[in-house]
Formats: sequence, C-alpha cells, structure tokens
Amino acid sequence: MLKGLREDLRLGAHPDVWAEEELGLDLDSWQRDLLRSRSSRILLNCSRQSGKSTMAAVIALHRAIHRRGSLILCLAPALRQSQELFAKVAAFYRDLGRPVAPQSEKRLSLGLENGSRIITLPGSEKTIRGFSGATLLLVDEASRVDDGLYYAIRPMLAVSGGSLVMLSTPYGRRGVFYEEWIGGRGWERFEVPASRCPRISAAFLEEERESLPPFVYRQEYECSFEETEDQVFTTDMIDRAVTDEVQPLFGSVAL
Ligand SMILES: Nc1ncnc2c1ncn2[C@@H]1O[C@H](COP(=O)(O)OP(=O)(O)OP(=O)(O)O)[C@@H](O)[C@H]1O
Ligand SMILES: [Mg+2]
Repeated sequence: MLKGLREDLRLGAHPDVWAEEELGLDLDSWQRDLLRSRSSRILLNCSRQSGKSTMAAVIALHRAIHRRGSLILCLAPALRQSQELFAKVAAFYRDLGRPVAPQSEKRLSLGLENGSRIITLPGSEKTIRGFSGATLLLVDEASRVDDGLYYAIRPMLAVSGGSLVMLSTPYGRRGVFYEEWIGGRGWERFEVPASRCPRISAAFLEEERESLPPFVYRQEYECSFEETEDQVFTTDMIDRAVTDEVQPLFGSVAL
C-alpha cells in the first residue's frame, strides 16, 4: 500500500519517467526536457512530425491521472486535428489498461474516476467560451488557430491559475503564436528542427529539400517563420506538398 503510494508520487512528480516506464516511450531529449519543465507557460516551435501532438497527449494524460479534478482542454484548429489528438490520448489511456468509453463525434472527452477530464475541441472562440476553470490548456498547431481564441482563453487561465502550452510548426510572420514566440514574456521556449528528431532521416530531409519550395522547407522542417506578403503558395498547396512519410510507431484507436 505504502509502496504503491510512493510509486504513485514518484510517477506523479516525474512525467518523463511516467512516459518512459508506463507508456513505454523512448523519449527524444527535447521531449524529456519538455516533460521535466515546471513552467506554466510553454511555447514549442517544432518541425512537422517531430512528436508535438504525442507530447500534448502525454502531458494531458499525465496531468489528468496524477492531479485529481483537473480540467484539461486540448485545442486544435479543426475538428480533424482535435480528433487525431484525442485518438492519441485515448490510445495511451488504453495502453495503460483503462477502458475508453464511447465518445460523441464533436466533443471528444475522457472522464476519469478521480474527477479529471480531458476535453478535445476544435479551436474556435465559440467552442471555448462554455468552459471555465481549465487547469491546463494545450493548443496544438497553435500558429493556425484564430487569434480570437487566444484572447478568449487568457482570462480563463488567470482565474484558474492554469497552465498554457502552445505547440506548433510555424506558419508565417503573423498571429499570436508568432508574436509570443518573438517577443512574448514569461514563456519557456523549445525549438525543435527536424534535424533533432531521430525518426526523420537525413536522406528523407534531403529529398524534401529538393522537392519543396525553399520557404516551405524552412517552415516545415527548420522552425522558420517565413514572410507571408509575397507568398505565392496557398496553405492548401503547402499541405499537399508535404508528405507524411515518417512511419508511425504507435497505432491510434478508431473512434
Ligand atoms: N519519442 C518517440 N518515440 C517514438 N515515436 C515517436 C516519439 N514521439 C513521436 N513519435 C511518433 O512520431 C510520429 C509523429 O508524431 P506526432 O504526430 O506527435 O508529430 P507532430 O509533430 O504532431 O506531427 P504533425 O506535424 O504531422 O502534426 C507518430 O507516429 C508518433 O507516434
Ligand atoms: Mg500533430
């Protein structure tokens, strides 16, 4: 009993150890640093496929399990992205041997016995306004969520004393994520170019460098906020140009 409690406290105090021992992840060094951070304001400027959403899911689940009564909101720009993020949370939870109840299509949430809840939402100002008292807010692909959303969540955190983590690949010199990254105060910043991700090979990057317009390559893989005024490629064209060829190492649950 005492041993179990001690173990629980140890894992509760060390999310990185929990991720490795309980979820079986082999963390990259930046992921370990991130999970060890004690900061309540974190910005991550990361390459595509570096593991941003995976880390968002790990942080959310660790907090929910180890701090009873947590309300954790995970936001992403669109429903598809919030579903993907929720699938990662649900897959990890299932890996821990806990059942995942069926979810409604739009509002994806996981409620735990200790009173914690993880709610994954597509990020619009309207979806967030109904929630108060969030103890942790995670914004995935933060460079692409509306600025209005950011202005709606800040006061909410002031009241709850909650933490805010924004993770993103850059998307031009515009918007709140960019502004906070270059000049915001009180943030701990992590920058993770593709070259620091062991799952993305040098050969793959070389191929991408050759086939993508240079500014797209710099944005997607080198954490660079590129000028937008003379941008001749639409977002859609960029999305279609970048492939997801890095092999997934973890499965995701079907929702
Ligand atoms: N530490 C790790 N060990 C093994 N695999 C990992 C690790 N971190 C992430 N991955 C895997 O890398 C892949 C990309 O992860 P993830 O989707 O979290 O990246 P992302 O940065 O959110 O990508 P995108 O830019 O496409 O949104 C996934 O298959 C994930 O399971
Ligand atoms: Mg992602």
